[in-house]
Amino acid sequence: MINIYERSPAINWGILVTALLIGISSIIYTNALVNRILAQEEKQISLFAKVQESLATAEQSENLNFLMEEIIASNNSIPVILTDENRQPIGSRNLEEPENVIEKKAFWLRTMAEMQQQHEPITLTLDSASNMRQYVYYENSPLVNQLRYFPYVQLTVILIFFSLVYSLFSYSRKSEQNRVWVGLAKETAHQLGTPLSSLIAWVEYLKADENVESEVVEELEKDVKRFETITARFSSIGSTPALKDENIKEILEECISYLRKRVSSKVSFMLHIKEDDLLLPINKSLFEWVIENLCKNAVDAMNAVGSIDIYVSHSRDDKNLLIDLKDTGKGIHKSKLKTVFRPGFTTKKRGWGLGLALAKRIVENYHKGKIFVFRSEIDLGTTFRIILPKK
Ligand SMILES: Nc1ncnc2c1ncn2[C@@H]1O[C@H](COP(=O)(O)OP(=O)(O)OP(=O)(O)O)[C@@H](O)[C@H]1O
Ligand SMILES: [Mg+2]
Repeated sequence: MINIYERSPAINWGILVTALLIGISSIIYTNALVNRILAQEEKQISLFAKVQESLATAEQSENLNFLMEEIIASNNSIPVILTDENRQPIGSRNLEEPENVIEKKAFWLRTMAEMQQQHEPITLTLDSASNMRQYVYYENSPLVNQLRYFPYVQLTVILIFFSLVYSLFSYSRKSEQNRVWVGLAKETAHQLGTPLSSLIAWVEYLKADENVESEVVEELEKDVKRFETITARFSSIGSTPALKDENIKEILEECISYLRKRVSSKVSFMLHIKEDDLLLPINKSLFEWVIENLCKNAVDAMNAVGSIDIYVSHSRDDKNLLIDLKDTGKGIHKSKLKTVFRPGFTTKKRGWGLGLALAKRIVENYHKGKIFVFRSEIDLGTTFRIILPKK
């Protein structure tokens, strides 16, 4: 088995897992960071509460006043609302609030409800004898909230970045393959061109020579024609081939008669098509190549004994032509239905694994159609379906 082009799926998974690991570790790290900041903020608030409490009870309030101002000044991020014992707000810090007094009150009450969901308010006992109290409501600083979302944003960015890099790589790999296909095909067509034209000239020369048996010349001419077809295929695949309305039945019949002479007589070919004059825009030399490749594979799959049936029908919406190529070969395993089209995938000793890749390229890139394994059963046979747009 040769797999010249196969890319390792392990590498793709490796990239994805790395991206996820980076993302997850950043989430864990940021969470730890958030928790530390939260703890610090809580400490700050409880200190604020303690001082507030002492301020009301202590005699030396001057020192404490100073402390309070320090704390309040140092808290320029944690939103706080202070209330009286009836939970009526009496002041706030670090909140963007409306100027209007009534609106401000409503805003405070709303914010207090939200704050309470995050943290239980701190109770200040101002006078233990009369049981006078105040409450401190507070919530996380905007910094903490932003930090919380940060790793998710980061993870998304990383994933977008990796998928971008991945698609860029696979695009460049594909276009590189494209260049190899096209370049090789062009070069082959070019190199075949010179001996071909001299062969054609030789055949003409021999035709005119009465000493040469006409049968020999005829055989020679057939081979030269074949040579011409092959050159036309290579030159078509190396450029953007023109599509022309062609008679599908005639082309398929030609393919079959060409193949019949070249494979075992134990392989029977049958063409099932109703219309004699069905025209379809195709590139003849490339389309024949596809049919030949599929038929050759079918013959290989049945060890040269069995039957190949070609059915031509129309899609339900009548926009496409369906060509089904059914064989009685050994079948393709379910897990390989897509893999068989990959360049380089072969199960044959002398295979290159290029036949189906080429067929796919011809059908999909040059004819805007589709080709896939329509049905396959082990030891019973396989049906390949080609869908070609009628316009
Ligand atoms: N009709 C079929 N039945 C069963 N297996 C098939 C059939 N057609 C293709 N395959 C499988 O798909 C593989 C790839 O086919 P493909 O035509 O691309 O390459 P190949 O025939 O092995 O070599 P190449 O066509 O380049 O000489 C084959 O090796 C075979 O295993
Ligand atoms: Mg093949």
